[in-house]
Amino acid sequence: MSSEQPSTGGLTPSQLADFERDGYLVIPNALPPTTVEALLAETHQLLDDFSLSEHPMTRFSTGEKSDHVGDDYFLTSGDKIRFFFEEDAFSPNGELLKPKARAINKIGHYLHALSPPFAALLDPALNPDLLGAGTSTGSVAAGHKESHPAAVARALGFRDPRCLQSMVICKQPEIGGAVPPHQDSTFLYTDPPSAVGFWYALEDATAENGCLSFLPGSHRWAPVRQRFARAADGRSGTEFMDNAGPQFPIGEEYGEDKKEGEGADGEYVMGEVKAGSLILIHGNLLHKSERNTSQKGRIIYTFHVIEGEGTTYDARNWLQPPAEGFTKLVRA
Ligand code: FE2
Repeated sequence: MSSEQPSTGGLTPSQLADFERDGYLVIPNALPPTTVEALLAETHQLLDDFSLSEHPMTRFSTGEKSDHVGDDYFLTSGDKIRFFFEEDAFSPNGELLKPKARAINKIGHYLHALSPPFAALLDPALNPDLLGAGTSTGSVAAGHKESHPAAVARALGFRDPRCLQSMVICKQPEIGGAVPPHQDSTFLYTDPPSAVGFWYALEDATAENGCLSFLPGSHRWAPVRQRFARAADGRSGTEFMDNAGPQFPIGEEYGEDKKEGEGADGEYVMGEVKAGSLILIHGNLLHKSERNTSQKGRIIYTFHVIEGEGTTYDARNWLQPPAEGFTKLVRA
């Protein structure tokens, strides 16, 4: 069997090896163009349709310019579709400087259940053609089917993969905010850590418009020292707290002693990708993105998966499960 033959149904052995070595993996053409178009059309519809009149004008802040986002509109968004503004969409006196559809930083966090096109990406029964299955017998269609999120999650070793949040991130032209280096397990903590990000480019992501960049291998040596949690002692909002639980997933490959060479000061690698590409991101991997000051937007869709079997989801996490529990990934 060639090393390119998928042995796990979702990733080839060489893709899996790359992910384990680097902590991220780019899968080009994971979505066919028709699906990218459908998800972009839904995104634009959502941006056009939401109402400003009852919106609390919550801005998405990563904490660089103002406190990290943490109001009720944010904290109760886990089972809703809500809209968070770019920090730079406002004048100093709070006036919106852009049309609303050009001012939103992100839409979240329950698209994967409440928006039919995004829900169909996780549950192929809702739309069998979404990942190209049945549209042709060529290798491209086969590749799309192999890229089904459930198959990919199984290939990564998940036993009970659960999608717990989803977001469209717009990275608007001229005002798209930077995201400083971080690890996703800080925000979506399980004991032990298990989060993996699925990140789909719906438009080309380039150095010019603020693509992601990654510190390869940092998932093996960078511990999750901090957690983003609901504020303690009955206070409202969110806070960062020291992580008293496990700081790595279970495995001999993980540990602070695994750091070689330049470590945290090493070179970030740009993740420039075409629309339709999927990037998998390990929850311990250090990654970031720069501002988008260009005239081109950079709309992407991302959701995160955690292990539902044998892990504990923490009650202090900012995001708490909806009444029906986190969404199971269903195999194509
Ligand atoms: Fe991230």
